[in-house]
Amino acid sequence: MKTKSASISIIGMGYVGLCTAATFASRGIRTIGIDIDQVRVEQISKGKAPLHEPQLDSMLKNAVRKKLLDATSDISLAADTYATFLTVGTPSQQDGSIDLSYIKNATEDLGNVLRDKPGYHLVVVKSTVVPGTTNGVVKRFLEQSSRKTVGSELGLCTNPEFLKEGTAINDALHPDKIVIGSNDKKSASELTRLYHRFYGSKLPPTILTSPEAAELVKYASNAFLATKVSFINTIANIAEQIPGVDVGKIAEAIGLDPRIGPLFLNAGPGYGGSCFHKDLQALINYSQNKNYDPVMFRATEETNEQQANRVVGLAEKLLGSLPFKRVAVLGLAFKKDTDDIREAASIRVINQLYKKGARVIAYDPMAIPNTRKQLQEQIDYAENARSALKGADCAIIMTEWEEIRKLKAKDFQAHMKTPNVVDARRVYNPEEFSGLNYASIGLGPSTGIKNNSP
Ligand code: UGA
Repeated sequence: MKTKSASISIIGMGYVGLCTAATFASRGIRTIGIDIDQVRVEQISKGKAPLHEPQLDSMLKNAVRKKLLDATSDISLAADTYATFLTVGTPSQQDGSIDLSYIKNATEDLGNVLRDKPGYHLVVVKSTVVPGTTNGVVKRFLEQSSRKTVGSELGLCTNPEFLKEGTAINDALHPDKIVIGSNDKKSASELTRLYHRFYGSKLPPTILTSPEAAELVKYASNAFLATKVSFINTIANIAEQIPGVDVGKIAEAIGLDPRIGPLFLNAGPGYGGSCFHKDLQALINYSQNKNYDPVMFRATEETNEQQANRVVGLAEKLLGSLPFKRVAVLGLAFKKDTDDIREAASIRVINQLYKKGARVIAYDPMAIPNTRKQLQEQIDYAENARSALKGADCAIIMTEWEEIRKLKAKDFQAHMKTPNVVDARRVYNPEEFSGLNYASIGLGPSTGIKNNSP
């Protein structure tokens, strides 16, 4: 399966690597996707995505059919390409720091196959790594195993990604920026040239900087977004104490200030996903090792952790007590349109409900198989939202799925034993739920006066 004319190779066919590979190939750039997982490679070779991401399947199918994308576990094929992106995982360790073993192995294997390559090869670090990793670990492993020098036969850049699960393909096709960190002009200009090929005349704003700064941009971006969520959740918790106040109005008003902006101001049960918590922990650990304690980011994380208690607290308030109560959890994924439950607030809430003696029945349009793997039969699973509600004492909305959003107050009334609803995602209009026992994150006690109308 040698694709002589392939232009780039990508090591690590996880979420980022696969979406990057599919979008490069969709722009006519021949791409080789490399992964040690043979099953994954075979699946990708058939044009099938091993994970759920809208548009990815059809893009992969097309790319494979047009022979623009090959998947393989043979890393030696990277030497036939012009540039190699490293997109392997950097999972969290116990102390919050990141585990670099996948990066080290991939870099070493790549260096070995580049040893006999005549001519230039560009290596691009796309994995999320703390400042200093590209110029330290990656450069050292690459030079040692290839016996070549970065800056002459080898190019080396850091090029973080900002893809969001659920919209990754669109994000990759229309990014708000490209960040390139490099030590030498040639590496930076070669990578910029590749992106010129990708985006044509629509090259997004491109920030050229050092590898360390590019690495920090990625952490700064996720730390800011996570802090924005914890900020609005803090305001939500204050708003809950004030009669007639809804955090939605506060977010709407402050979001009009261009210095603040309207996005990422949806109060809820706390952020989840594979990135925010992992990256904040890594940044905190990194800073503390440099003798600086980033108090603000510790507060962002603590606020997030406590938000799950707030959700359970609302259920407790409506029910009086939790032991033996049947609680329907609607939504398990960390956000809508994904089957991903990593660090999902739903799991924190379920674990607490369970500890407090409630019986949980959960429903999610996509994430039940992943939840079952983690929680096994500790809870019950329902086939649809309505069957989850059957006989329930309380319902908690944990993910903003369209299907869940569409439920009406009468659906809860018709199926539940007692219609207690905790809207942790703020998907319903409180006025339409006024006939039920309804509590929502960020909603103060009712005054009887409608304050939602303009
Ligand atoms: C996040 C970043 O948004 C991406 O830019 C980044 O590339 C990615 O991490 C990564 O580092 O790989 P993602 O984890 O897919 O993307 O999810 P987000 O859409 O950012 O949502 C994260 C969490 O925050 C979700 O649980 C979401 O429900 C929550 N959230 C988001 C809120 O509670 N309120 C909001 O207003 C926005």
